[in-house]
Amino acid sequence: MNLTVFQVINYSLIITALVMLIYYMWDLFFGQNYQPVSWMHAVKQGQVSRVLKMLERHYPDKVRFFNWWFQVRRLNDEQIPGVFAELGVYKGESARILHAMDPLRIFHLFDTFDGFTAIDLKEERGEAATYTPDNFSDTDISRVVHYIGGNENIKLYPGYFPETASIVSDVRFALVNIDADLYRPTRAGLEFFYPRLSPGGVLLVHDYNPKWEGVITAVNDFMKTIPESLVILPDMYGTAMIIRNK
Ligand SMILES: C[S@@+](CC[C@H](N)C(=O)[O-])C[C@H]1O[C@@H](n2cnc3c(N)ncnc32)[C@H](O)[C@@H]1O
Repeated sequence: MNLTVFQVINYSLIITALVMLIYYMWDLFFGQNYQPVSWMHAVKQGQVSRVLKMLERHYPDKVRFFNWWFQVRRLNDEQIPGVFAELGVYKGESARILHAMDPLRIFHLFDTFDGFTAIDLKEERGEAATYTPDNFSDTDISRVVHYIGGNENIKLYPGYFPETASIVSDVRFALVNIDADLYRPTRAGLEFFYPRLSPGGVLLVHDYNPKWEGVITAVNDFMKTIPESLVILPDMYGTAMIIRNK
């Protein structure tokens, strides 16, 4: 049987569509549902935006996603004042979700937007010591802005943290997401943001796991200096969470 190029493309498209349909139906009937009852209730009540529903569907780490959602809800229910911040933005995936969860809060975003720096890498041990300034350098600030697709509350500060932080030294924070992978920026982030965190505000440090020794050490060292207890979340890569005492 001789097939034309057109027929080959046609059959390929039909097969792809069938596979996707089977995958979708399988997931619908047999897939595990990680959605908390409170989320499903909020969706039913029309309290979750279309964008956020779409982001939830595609984000693989459901525990991380829903912890953010419950924290943002708590901040609003308890009327905790302050803005949002993220240290370690990369292409903007987590920032996009957090912004969609509360577009009314100003959101300060810190990153070199050029990957790790040699000075931070120098002190690393374990797997992080094998990383180079090329890691996470494949990003671009205008593409990040476009990807987040947010409003005027999104503020980006390209450059080395903590050097870029002085511009927000008088600001109060309600939620801070630190996702910088290495000891030095993680420690600098904790030292900068914790004293500026509102009572009841939440500070999250991603990658609290043995692959990122520097993150564990930075968090553990810092915890010795504050009265709060650390909560470790069972999300995919481990998140260390501190809620500032009221
Ligand atoms: C794991 S990525 C962030 C991922 C992002 N939060 C997400 O979920 O998509 C880590 C980022 O931290 C940034 N970073 C690390 N050290 C930094 C420093 N000292 N100053 C600014 N940015 C830094 C890197 O450039 C990189 O983009």
